[in-house]
Amino acid sequence: MGAGASFGVYVHVPFCRHRCDYCAFATWDDRGHLLDSYVEGVRQEIDEAAPDLPPVTSVFFGGGTPSLLAPAHVELVLAGLPLAGDAEVSLECNPETIDAARLAGYRLAGITRISLGAQSLVDAVLMSLDRSHDGATVVRAARAVASTGFASWNLDLIYGTVGESLDDWRRTLAGAVELEAPHVSAYGLTVEPGTPLAADPSRAPDDDDQADKYVLAEEVLGGAGLASYEVSNWARPGHQCRHNLLYWSQGHYRGFGCAAHSHQDGRRWWNVRTPERYLALVGAGESAVAAGEHLDEPGRRVEGLQLLLRTERGVPASDLDAEGLAGLVEPRDDRLVLTVAGRLLANEVALRITDESRS
Ligand SMILES: C[S@@+](CC[C@H](N)C(=O)[O-])C[C@H]1O[C@@H](n2cnc3c(N)ncnc32)[C@H](O)[C@@H]1O
Ligand code: SF4
Repeated sequence: MGAGASFGVYVHVPFCRHRCDYCAFATWDDRGHLLDSYVEGVRQEIDEAAPDLPPVTSVFFGGGTPSLLAPAHVELVLAGLPLAGDAEVSLECNPETIDAARLAGYRLAGITRISLGAQSLVDAVLMSLDRSHDGATVVRAARAVASTGFASWNLDLIYGTVGESLDDWRRTLAGAVELEAPHVSAYGLTVEPGTPLAADPSRAPDDDDQADKYVLAEEVLGGAGLASYEVSNWARPGHQCRHNLLYWSQGHYRGFGCAAHSHQDGRRWWNVRTPERYLALVGAGESAVAAGEHLDEPGRRVEGLQLLLRTERGVPASDLDAEGLAGLVEPRDDRLVLTVAGRLLANEVALRITDESRS
């Protein structure tokens, strides 16, 4: 899983038709009129950086709702990048925004992997999550994705919404298996400060309920041949997301667009948050970078181990103080990996990355 010669590009698309009330991402539901100029701005930012970029082995169009981009927008952005021949190029789609024609256009434009924001297949759960699609729309969209011939695709799911029964979650997981999704990301609903969800304590998810649902996810997805390769990610053999692997191995990547983050050798920086500010800076020929930070070598090492611990690879046994972690970690060769119970407490276990590893 080493970074090797991998280099990733992240393109942020800060537009949505509707803002879901649990979401804290940098996205707006009233700026669609900026879409064309935004894509041109991103291409301009890419053109300035391109001469210094190594071959790009993965691209991720994230949002927001990248499926609001027309295939021609995607083509314009990708044409500016020095793509490696076998690059993985992912694009996040909201189910209600895509059809067969648009997907075929994305494929021709160079997209190799679709990530579909399904969240659930149960209508009542989707309503409670404030989503603007229903379960039937997810099924239609997933079938269209599967039949377009992308190299891979993913279903994003959220569990632990108030009102979601264990049986609802089982139906969603069974649906993902029936649709033959080769990759599934499943996230416990997180209450993000400042969102409408956070303002309503009666909708706060329950830890025990989320734990039960995580165990069920492992049972159903694992049982169907999707192996857990990171705490929140399952994939069939050959379908792991290269772009995610790059993040988890502290690889190098460059972000384009507003609010996009970049990383190179422990130095991290990020662009201004709003599309207006971004366009003003890029339009004036100035840098869109808002700020940055540098992680020193010991800090990088600890962060690297904490990220690795969340993956199937685990960490060298000597780097984790395993005393008192019975049942949470298990040995594999000379390494320690999280058990299913340990994955539920991954953050707590990560705190046990030994002090010695900091020196
Ligand atoms: C930022 S969204 C972009 C994709 C697309 N717009 C969508 O919502 O389907 C990426 C993924 O993050 C996850 N996500 C966003 N907010 C979350 C939250 N508060 N708790 C858990 N997962 C969340 C969802 O699974 C979502 O598919
Ligand atoms: S969850 Fe997705 S669709 Fe909803 S507001 Fe956030 S980015 Fe947009």
